[in-house]
Amino acid sequence: MKDLTPARDSLDPIEIASRDEISSLQLERLHWTLNHAYNNVPHYKKQFDSNGVHPDDLKSLEDLANFPFTVKSDLRDNYPFDMFAVPREQVARIHASSGTTGKPTVVGYTQTDIDNWATLVARSMRASGTKPGDMVHIAYGYGLFTGGLGAHYGAEKLGCTVVPVSGGMTERQVTLIQDFKPSTIMVTPSYLLSVLDAFKEKNIDPRDTSLDVGIFGAEPWTNAMRQEIEEAFDMHAVDIYGLSEVMGPGVANECVESKDGPTIWEDHFYPEIINPETGKPVADGEQGELVFTSLTKEAFPIIRYRTRDLTRLLPGTARSMRRMEKITGRSDDMIILRGVNVFPTQIEEQLMRVDTLAPHFQIELTRNDRLDVMTIHTESTEGHDSADARANAGSKLSSLIKDAIGISAVVKVSAPGSVARSQGKAVRTVDNRPKD
Ligand code: DLL
Repeated sequence: MKDLTPARDSLDPIEIASRDEISSLQLERLHWTLNHAYNNVPHYKKQFDSNGVHPDDLKSLEDLANFPFTVKSDLRDNYPFDMFAVPREQVARIHASSGTTGKPTVVGYTQTDIDNWATLVARSMRASGTKPGDMVHIAYGYGLFTGGLGAHYGAEKLGCTVVPVSGGMTERQVTLIQDFKPSTIMVTPSYLLSVLDAFKEKNIDPRDTSLDVGIFGAEPWTNAMRQEIEEAFDMHAVDIYGLSEVMGPGVANECVESKDGPTIWEDHFYPEIINPETGKPVADGEQGELVFTSLTKEAFPIIRYRTRDLTRLLPGTARSMRRMEKITGRSDDMIILRGVNVFPTQIEEQLMRVDTLAPHFQIELTRNDRLDVMTIHTESTEGHDSADARANAGSKLSSLIKDAIGISAVVKVSAPGSVARSQGKAVRTVDNRPKD
């Protein structure tokens, strides 16, 4: 793989500024944001007033902990536009996240917000090793989802040639990569695996493509998956993080030279980790729920948004800004199986250790005689799909899971191609337990 470390002088100066400079910018921007939200969004005024706090009470960054949280249901209760802090006419773009039940959560951007977002995605891409003049294949979905358009504006801002393919039509993805020769691909890791299948079906070795960098996010993926992708494509695989409520992709991004968890762009977002039960902030380095406050957003300022993503804050390495550890999972994705907490990423990690199994899996939960049962549906790789080979691979995975996680799971290994493929975010868990 090529050394794609960006030149130090190509970085935004704030990325490598002193911690004091970063903190004082954050405090100044936090003041502005709290006032902006309080003065322009009735929801925030009501929340601050009923918690007995006022934007002027913020004297230090730690004082933010006295302000109330914002949760997803606040956005739903203010559907569609009541959390906007500017008149609707000044909103240049709307995005929304699908939400599995009920109404979507709606977010808005002024033209300045769109420009800042593009700048941060461009910064994220530069951190990933992409340079001006590179060609970028974007296979994140375009539309209300922030992935496609977020990546698109960032790639244009960096000065790249953008190929806005969106998700789906997997064979065509392969044709376009072969013919156009992009050096960067932006896509969910699970959809990249579908594209990898299509390469294999066409008997094309993905290591021979023009791709040097893949920028993967929108769903959890493990370091074991990184290794699998890097080997399959002979390219760097870096992690991009974000969520629509806070902006979209580009809230944090890994640096290609260190690949040690996404660097949070702290000049635009203030991170906290809280204990999800007590709501109290915990120290850097401790695990908990990630909470974000936007520092520059005009149309949709967001105060202490509980992301439900579980991680910890780590000191800066390749940049002065802090990192977050690669996300283990969302509290919503946690499966409690007979008293043991399990995340799909833990299953992924073990699956990657069995080389006769393909990296595709889905977890099914059922109930048998009041006992919950976890079945892992996965598949064998080509050349290892005899009944014996499948049975061996299945029992190997099942014992790895038992040893590493301490649970008994049923593993069903089917023929290559039998597990449902993702075209965007993978559905990792299907819950078929009776609703009680
Ligand atoms: O997924 C934004 C995005 C698009 C990020 C493209 C990266 C690339 P939402 O649909 O609002 O926004 O979903 C946000 O996805 O709270 C996490 O649970 C999860 N997520 C996003 N990036 C990562 C990542 C976009 N790198 C939710 N690792 C977040 C793990 C991620 N989970």
